[in-house]
Amino acid sequence: MSAESILQLEGVTVTADGKPVCHDVNLTINDGETHILLGPNGSGKSSLLCALMGIRPFDIVGGTALYCGQDLTAMSLDERARAGVGMAFQRPPSLTGVTVKQLIAAMQPDPADSGTVPSSDPVEKLGLTHLLDRDINKGFSGGEAKRWEIAKLTTQSPRLCLFDEPESGVDIEQVKVVAGAISELMNTPLPDGKQRAAIIITHTGFILDGIDATIAHLLIDGRIQASDDAKQLFNHVRRRGYAAATLS
Ligand SMILES: Nc1ncnc2c1ncn2[C@@H]1O[C@H](COP(=O)(O)OP(=O)(O)OP(=O)(O)O)[C@@H](O)[C@H]1O
Ligand SMILES: [Mg+2]
Repeated sequence: MSAESILQLEGVTVTADGKPVCHDVNLTINDGETHILLGPNGSGKSSLLCALMGIRPFDIVGGTALYCGQDLTAMSLDERARAGVGMAFQRPPSLTGVTVKQLIAAMQPDPADSGTVPSSDPVEKLGLTHLLDRDINKGFSGGEAKRWEIAKLTTQSPRLCLFDEPESGVDIEQVKVVAGAISELMNTPLPDGKQRAAIIITHTGFILDGIDATIAHLLIDGRIQASDDAKQLFNHVRRRGYAAATLS
């Protein structure tokens, strides 16, 4: 069976509140693939993911962006989420009056689809059962908020999983747990048997020890300036800095 394209970006321009932040982005992600996105602070990584998700004030204003063959720009945030696009945020907002338990109940899959989300309870797996009766992200520690984002996304069970710095602020033992949870999600097929795909933003690269990355892209000044094997690209950046890594 040939790979199916889940995300296809051609010449994409992204604006943040009207200001262009990503330029001429070309990216094809096929089912089963995990793409890593790295780059310096302010290079446009989060803006790109937010624009794919449809979060204001980020917009795709140029080029073509197809999700499973559909024009993403013609879909609202809500339509994108229902069609299987999901995001774990870099800085997730808090929700007063909505508990973890309530949101999990609201996101439960159709019983007909049971067995097609990861078998282990993500809240338990990520060590978050003590948060079940708390309001979402209210007073969560940095690491708890990040681990909850992974548990949330796992429960939502999207086809295209967008992870914005899933391991930042997570302690070194829990990074392995986070990587394991991401890996389990990616290896669990959808109800129709199709595979998922992911984009993971990371600064540290620690997450690479626990997941199977297809390729990494280096975003500088809003442009993909290099694409290479993930560990190799990280090694280049560590040794020589971002700018020099584009020359390899
Ligand atoms: N809501 C906004 N309004 C205006 N400009 C914004 C907004 N959000 C982000 N920007 C700007 O867009 C640029 C890219 O920001 P973005 O958050 O995408 O960077 P990043 O690569 O994710 O950085 P980091 O590694 O620090 O998370 C920055 O100059 C930022 O100030
Ligand atoms: Mg960011």
